[in-house]
Amino acid sequence: MLKVVVFVSGGGTNLKAILDAVEEGRITNACVSAVISNNKNAYALERAKKHGIDAICISPKEFESREEFNRAFLVRVKELAPDLIVLAGFLVVLPETLIREYQNRIINIHPSLIPSFCGKGYYGLKVHEAALSRGVKVTGATVHFVDEGTDTGPILLQKAVKVEDGDTPELLQRRVMEQAEWVLLPQAIDLIANGKVSVADGHAVIAE
Ligand code: GAR
Repeated sequence: MLKVVVFVSGGGTNLKAILDAVEEGRITNACVSAVISNNKNAYALERAKKHGIDAICISPKEFESREEFNRAFLVRVKELAPDLIVLAGFLVVLPETLIREYQNRIINIHPSLIPSFCGKGYYGLKVHEAALSRGVKVTGATVHFVDEGTDTGPILLQKAVKVEDGDTPELLQRRVMEQAEWVLLPQAIDLIANGKVSVADGHAVIAE
């Protein structure tokens, strides 16, 4: 059974999609053992508690320096002994030590078709604002493994979503979530939990 720890910063609709998929049997061989947030007010923590899941808050603000936070964060994560870490709207830059320690065991959901509208400064609504201001006709979401760069790791799954006339960033964000993110993230976890994913030469490969 794959032990999954989910990192969140906000509302946690992707966390909800994961928990629903586990309960409905769309994710098998995996359980969410804990949820970590940097933000004590994140509604995602409430969602975790409602499901009887350990909800932990650890914020850089509680530490005198970033290094101290990074150290404490790694210790806390190691105590949880996750097999897979899922970044579901986690807006803190991960300590490099953690990325190295959990190489090919951290995935992230990003609300665009990488390599468009990704990297430093592209998160949440900003991604959709950028897509609309560029005038793209198609956008989407990507699940990728996390490496030391920002949104540069091996791509696991992508799904395209149409941009409609009259879209606002908020409308587009909602459509990308409904049609892509909430579908892809549970699917990615299920594939990994069932031994279907390998990473070689910087590419993720899905077994038939
Ligand atoms: C999601 O749209 C996710 O793709 C995005 O934050 C949102 C979190 O929503 N993540 C990023 O932009 C990462 N670069 P949620 O808390 O409702 O799941």
